[in-house]
Amino acid sequence: MNIEQLRADTPAVAHLIHFNNAGAALMPAPVIETMTRHIQLEANLGGYEAAGQCSAEVESVYGTIGRLINAQADEIAVIENATRAWDMAFYSLPLRPGDVVLTSTTEYAGNYIPYLQLQQQRGIEIRIMPNDEHGQVSLSSLKDMLDDDRVALISLPVIATNGGPVQPIEQIGALARAAGVLYLLDACQGVGQMPIDVQKIGCHMLAATSRKYLRGPRGMGFLYVERGLCQNLEPAFLDLHAASLQTADSFTIRPDARRFENWECNVAAKLGLGAAVEYALAQGIEPMWLRIQHLAEYLRQQLTEIPGVTPRDLGAIKSGIVTFTHRDSSAVQIQQWLAAQGKRINVTTSTCRSTMLDMQQRDLLEVSRASLHAYNTEAEIDTMIAALRQLPSV
Ligand SMILES: Cc1ncc(COP(=O)(O)O)c(C=O)c1O
Repeated sequence: MNIEQLRADTPAVAHLIHFNNAGAALMPAPVIETMTRHIQLEANLGGYEAAGQCSAEVESVYGTIGRLINAQADEIAVIENATRAWDMAFYSLPLRPGDVVLTSTTEYAGNYIPYLQLQQQRGIEIRIMPNDEHGQVSLSSLKDMLDDDRVALISLPVIATNGGPVQPIEQIGALARAAGVLYLLDACQGVGQMPIDVQKIGCHMLAATSRKYLRGPRGMGFLYVERGLCQNLEPAFLDLHAASLQTADSFTIRPDARRFENWECNVAAKLGLGAAVEYALAQGIEPMWLRIQHLAEYLRQQLTEIPGVTPRDLGAIKSGIVTFTHRDSSAVQIQQWLAAQGKRINVTTSTCRSTMLDMQQRDLLEVSRASLHAYNTEAEIDTMIAALRQLPSV
């Protein structure tokens, strides 16, 4: 990987150590240029006219996302964030009273709350897949759970917001397919970080965001829905983009995944997402994944040598999200201390509110989260470690 080029494309690294890539990564220059160009065009021409002028470019975003995850352009919907993309898929599923949804301890609250809502509204049942000795979904337990033919859906995040394991998503997919159960993946922290191939994984639906490891703009995300399934799912919300009026009392829903979109959209951000995916593909997802894992292991190793610090990540395969606790300081104190360094260091705090099942199981209320990307360096990690060693005792 050409790290110098990656950093040259990311000017803020001159004054900032950004370890909050799982929150929102720094956008590379081509993304910023694409978006700025379009906003300028809107200012000069008018918003609708600007969109019309670059309609081919906008259209190409779908194919670009498809290349990233090995899907077809008509299986992609561009939606304003991962949560809404996930919601559009989840709330379209014909779940009935007694249907069982299987999820992981690492589930994100933004997805878990909708399970609870449908538990209350429709009487679905939520079951948690137990973990194996590595802290990731136990495949043998899942196999047993799938013996119950009331299981209608397996739904979990590839990587949790608070780190933890990279779930065995391909093996889960094989079990889901064998059992004839729908499989919805939250790849919010996965896309841009690690190879995601929906054919290999075997998921039916996958939601993701733009601003995290993909390094795209905020307020953008996408949904993949397998072509064969798409026309059987009726979105909970429809508008005149997702559907068309045929007569004064009838409408048809479009056949492709864009039935999950709505009409109004931030075109500059959509083009920015396309540019971010192009940029990630040009770097190579596999080399970035190897570098991210290498940097994360380097940080974990350094953390173990600081008295009072406990790294908290589980999993046979770990990601670029590194979490830890400190015996004497809260995560907020650590975040503030690192942000106050001469060269600001961005880490964040991940709390029980986002990943309650996992944190309760591990008796944690919060963790510090340093999430690394390929443009980060060992030298930046060394700077953070030196700052942590100077952490004032409270
Ligand atoms: C695992 C996971 N899923 C979903 C989301 C929600 O993504 P968005 O904010 O784009 O809706 C997040 C955000 O942190 C996340 O970490």
